[in-house]
Amino acid sequence: MGPFGREDVRILLLGERGVGKTSLILSLVSEEFPDVVPPRAEEITIPADVTPEQVPTHIVDFSESEQTEQDLAREVQRADVVCLVYAVDDSHSLQQITERWLPLLQSLRPTSKEDGGSQSGEVVSAVPIILVGNKSDLLEQGNMESVLPIMNHYAEIETCVECSARTLRNISEMFYYAQKAVLHPTAPLYIAEDRE
Ligand code: GTP
Ligand code: MG
Repeated sequence: MGPFGREDVRILLLGERGVGKTSLILSLVSEEFPDVVPPRAEEITIPADVTPEQVPTHIVDFSESEQTEQDLAREVQRADVVCLVYAVDDSHSLQQITERWLPLLQSLRPTSKEDGGSQSGEVVSAVPIILVGNKSDLLEQGNMESVLPIMNHYAEIETCVECSARTLRNISEMFYYAQKAVLHPTAPLYIAEDRE
């Protein structure tokens, strides 16, 4: 068991076709942008000793062209954290975050009241979410304005991060924030700047 009392962390990537889920995973693993990607990356496990939090971490891709609705439901049930990916140059992919993906996650992993001792009967989410704006290389400037209202509306969104599988900007950070959301949940954060 890891130092935070967990065996492992399971990170699931979801989002519209073409937003770069598979590219993000392969960029993380190979530290370079893959020009050609399969529809779906094999599940990878990062050993504990090379993760910042020292917990083995599984990274799971999802592909609508290769997987069914049942596969999707099963993966959502198994996930410890979901990275919801949109592409910053594709407003439809962001719109689908609120119209499709967040409602889907809420129906598959319903928000539950914290039982007992909670001070205010605070509502907590069953699955933490990292909102990921990929392809930041295609925009000169970040686009925090369109994402902040979503963050404010959905308490289950832990962190938002803009990244690029192509330039590798914020790639390891994105997976680190996902790991951290499971191991040490905190108040929401918006990460647009590079972190050294
Ligand atoms: P599906 O498997 O169909 O759901 O798509 P996906 O989300 O896995 O996207 P994929 O990784 O296949 O990438 C789709 C396209 O976007 C490919 O042509 C990638 O080369 C391109 N792409 C991915 N990430 C980036 C990025 O950071 N910047 C740019 N400019 N292009 C990217
Ligand atoms: Mg893919």
